[in-house]
Amino acid sequence: MNNLFIIEHPLLQAKLTVLRDKRTKRQEFRQTLSEIAMLMTYDITRNIPVSHVKVETPLEETTGTVLNKDVTLVPILRAGLGMIDGILELLPDARVGHVGVYRDKKTLLPVEYYLKLPENVKETFVILVDPMLATGGSALAAIEILRQKGIKELNFLCLVAAPEGVRAVHEKFPDVKIFTAALDRQLNEHGYILPGLGDAGDRLYGTE
Ligand code: PRP
Ligand code: URA
Repeated sequence: MNNLFIIEHPLLQAKLTVLRDKRTKRQEFRQTLSEIAMLMTYDITRNIPVSHVKVETPLEETTGTVLNKDVTLVPILRAGLGMIDGILELLPDARVGHVGVYRDKKTLLPVEYYLKLPENVKETFVILVDPMLATGGSALAAIEILRQKGIKELNFLCLVAAPEGVRAVHEKFPDVKIFTAALDRQLNEHGYILPGLGDAGDRLYGTE
């Protein structure tokens, strides 16, 4: 699939296994999700625009690199929040916008309830963040909101994706780059990802 990037680094996959394990308790789940998000930041920023500058080492002058675009992280509430601290470890100056979307448990349709974005968001390198891409409804709702704000280039960082969700996003927005640690098998009849890791928000916040 075009514009789908599966990050298969062994460190990442070992941490994902901890998250999948139903015995993993809240504190370890939170810590591990944050660590994975930090590791994935390395890949998702691979194409961030840079400029070259002169820098003096103690020995001589050489050419160095600086990032030349501000970064905006946009977690989809709630579960997306669980990845933000990890990303900020590597991008401490990033702005954070918030999109509140939850999936109605019966209809599985997205319900939007909150939006706050930085003023200049469309001039920044935007990373939409949510650990789970299941039917794709929540991601589509968030992407539509961001597109209405004039954001053209969009990177979506998730942890586990279902083929159904990837297809739904790419049918409507083929240019959105999806970065994930795993492309799982399928959804079950309740819209949960198989094998997945359960309800990410509930496991993060103890609301299961
Ligand atoms: C989860 C998850 C995604 C969404 C994915 O959130 O964090 O936002 O489901 O499912 P979809 O692709 O079918 O839309 P949930 O609705 O459970 O809300 P929460 O983050 O508040 O727990
Ligand atoms: N949301 C989750 O948190 N987990 C799933 O498997 C599907 C949607």
